[in-house]
Formats: sequence, C-alpha cells, structure tokens
Amino acid sequence: MKITVVGTGYVGLVTGTCFADVGVEVVCVDVDQKKIDNLKKGIMPIYEPGLEEMVVRNYKSGRLQFSTDLGEAIKGSEVAFIAVGTPPGEDGSADLQYVLAVAEGIGKSMDDFMVVATKSTVPVGTGKKVHAAIQKALEGRGSDLGFAVASNPEFLKEGAAVEDFLKPDRIVIGVEDEKAEAIMKRLYKPFQLSGDRIIYMDIPSAEMTKYTANAMLATKISFMNDIANLCELVGADANMVRKGIGSDPRIGNKFIYPGVGYGGSCFPKDVKAIIRTAREYNYELKVLQSVEDVNEKQKYVLSNKVKKHFGEDLSGKTFAMWGLSFKPNTDDMREAPACVIIDELLAAGAQVKAYDPIAMKEAKEHYIGDKITYCNDAYEALVDADALLLVTEWSEFRMPSWNVLTKLLNDKVIFDGRNIYDPKYLKELGFTHYGIGI
Ligand code: UDX
Repeated sequence: MKITVVGTGYVGLVTGTCFADVGVEVVCVDVDQKKIDNLKKGIMPIYEPGLEEMVVRNYKSGRLQFSTDLGEAIKGSEVAFIAVGTPPGEDGSADLQYVLAVAEGIGKSMDDFMVVATKSTVPVGTGKKVHAAIQKALEGRGSDLGFAVASNPEFLKEGAAVEDFLKPDRIVIGVEDEKAEAIMKRLYKPFQLSGDRIIYMDIPSAEMTKYTANAMLATKISFMNDIANLCELVGADANMVRKGIGSDPRIGNKFIYPGVGYGGSCFPKDVKAIIRTAREYNYELKVLQSVEDVNEKQKYVLSNKVKKHFGEDLSGKTFAMWGLSFKPNTDDMREAPACVIIDELLAAGAQVKAYDPIAMKEAKEHYIGDKITYCNDAYEALVDADALLLVTEWSEFRMPSWNVLTKLLNDKVIFDGRNIYDPKYLKELGFTHYGIGI
C-alpha cells in the first residue's frame, strides 16, 4: 500500500515514519525544500525521542521518501494525509488556508480513487470544505475521478509521539462511506487494536472528538490550578488533594497536576478555536472561556511568588531557571510559560540565568533571544543566583545535589513551579520552598 503524508511537522513526520515502519510505502511531502533536504540527510526538524533513528532506518530501506512535489507523490497513493499546520488566526479561529491549498493540490494531480484524510486539528465542518476543494480542482481539469474525505485526528503527545502513534489508546476515524472505511481499516491493520479501540464515526463527530479531548484535558489542568491557588489560601496542600481525588476512577489520577499553566502547540490553540467555533453558532462555551482565563493567570503565579518574597523591585537580583520548554522531553517553546515568567522577572529589573537540556537553542533563536544568560548545565545557572525557579520538570532536575545548591545559591530559596520537590525535606535542609498550591 502506498500513502502520501503532506506536512512534515510533528504529526506528519511521526505519522509517515510510523506507517513506513510497519511496511507501508510512504512519501512525506513538504513545501520547505530545506526541511526535505535535511530529512534526507537524517537531520530532524524537531526533537522527538526515537524519531531520528526510525526516519533514517526507513529512509535507507526506501519505504520512506521525502519530496516537495505533491503531484508526483500522490500518484498511486491510496490515502493522502493532510497534516499541515492550522495556526490560530487573529480571532482565534484555525487558519485553514494550508489545509485547503493541499486539498486543491491533491485534486489537481490525483490519478485514481483515493481517501484524503485530515490529520491536522481542524474545526468542525472542514471535512466538507476539503471535499469541495478537491471536487473543484477535479472539475477544473475535467476529471470525474472518485475520492472520499476522512477525518483521522491525531492524539499523540510531544515527547512521546512515536510511542503514542505505535501504541495508541484509540484511533478515531470519521468517514463518508464504506469504501473509505475499508481502505482505512486496511491501512491501520498492522496496529492491531482490539475492535472497540478503532472507532469509526461520521466526519463532524471525529473533528469534534479531537477538540473535545484537548479541551477536556485543558479543563482538568485549569481546574486543578484554580483549586491549588485556593488550597494555598485556606492552608490545604494541593498535592494531598490531588492524591485524594485522583484515586476515584471517575476522576482519574492523570492531568490533575497543578503547575505554571499549560502550554504547547495544542491546548492553547484548540481551546481558543473551539470557543470560536461555538461563537459562530451563537453559543458561548463558558467553561472553556474560564479554562483559558485561568491558564493565562497561572503563568504569572511563579513570578508573583518571587515578588512576594523578594519585593516588587527585583533590580540587582539574579534568578536561576531550570527548564524552558513547555514540558519535558521536547524542545518546543510554543506558548511556554517560561517566556511569560522571564518577561515578568526582567520587567521587575532582575537577571535570569537559564538551563534547559534541549530547548535552549530554540528558545534563543526564536523566543527569548539574548535577554537572558544560557548556561551549559543546571549547576552553572545557580552561580551567583539569588534563588532557583523550577519551570519544566525534566528528569535531571528531580534529584539535584542539595549540597551544591546550598553552596551556589545566595539565598536558599526555591520556587518549584511543578511541585517536584518535597517541601518537608527541603525545610529540614534549611531551604525555603514555594510550590503551587502548597
Ligand atoms: C496534547 C495532548 O495530550 C495530545 O493528546 C494532543 O494530541 C496534543 O496536545 P502535548 O501538547 O504534547 O499533547 O502536551 P501534554 O503532555 O498533553 O501537556 C500539555 C501541557 O499541560 C503542558 O504544558 C504540561 O506541562 C501541562 N500539564 C499536563 C499540566 O500542567 N498538568 C498536568 O497534570 C498535565
């Protein structure tokens, strides 16, 4: 079976590579010539555990190819995945121009019946627009070739993308007809999920499922952040409350960790987009509006704690920051709370020395620039620093040498934005520990 995957971002590259790994013939297409040239050389556009090795292996075997030529790539493909970006427009709605341009491109050059499946997160109703764009392009060339549109949203997490793709909790496929369903069934056969975990449905429901999943997860986080802030006020321990509620299987113990707010490419964008979709139908998603508001405020919680401890004017103070990416195991800086925290500290006159195991290059080149000092390791960031801010919970930060911290920090103060340290133990060692909701 041959397929084409258009867009070599997180979703597209992982999708294409994983299908190639189970034996499918895959062409990954992108308009970015440099990206394609690099991929052929084994240079990845993103950091994702396990991906590079898999790309190189499948490229060498010939099952995985890279191209900028969409028209050539889709010849003989039974399925084309659209996995290009849907960045939020100014009003928060997902910008569909890239998705629809690809749909048109497919219609212009397809040579046989094919299924065109969107993997990008797209608003409800996009399936119809994709269908219309392909139809128009086919009519433009006087062709009556058949095709079917499908919606196959991706639920993979950054940092665990390959694993999530190969061992998904579930696969959601929205289809228009049985022919498309049969082709998608054949394509996903190697993943051998038990019957009820490949869920076929209509296209609008599949599109809605993706937004609902991300919105629900974002809701859990904002809810817990809100509760954590109240815990602090009433003298409760949010960690205990989390454990106390998480053991109820109806609530679950995942995604209820309070922190410095959710970031990344999905939650912020998707929450905005679904709110926007609802407005188009004159419906107000009040819960999700609050989820967003709480998250925006939460990004300031750590810097506010710093100001409460050291005073509003932070001139002359230096802060060590551990972690910059929006979460561990990724170099992704999109919507990373670290950016807001750094801006707040700098605006109050402080200096920041940061260390992140992977994201410093990305942070320096595209997000934070030279406003802060980047350090070679975690301890170097502590030299002459007045306090430590833990922003991203990379594993290597979990068990530092407290003796070294004691020696290097001017004040033994830790602002733990992810509650990874034991406050009692740190107190015994003479540290002042500020967590979230504790
Ligand atoms: C998310 C979804 O998990 C995934 O299914 C979807 O396809 C894309 O969006 P991702 O953006 O990679 O994936 O990150 P995720 O691991 O879900 O974390 C999102 C944010 O929530 C991070 O900033 C993380 O730090 C934060 N988070 C997560 C919390 O603050 N508390 C938690 O308990 C869990």
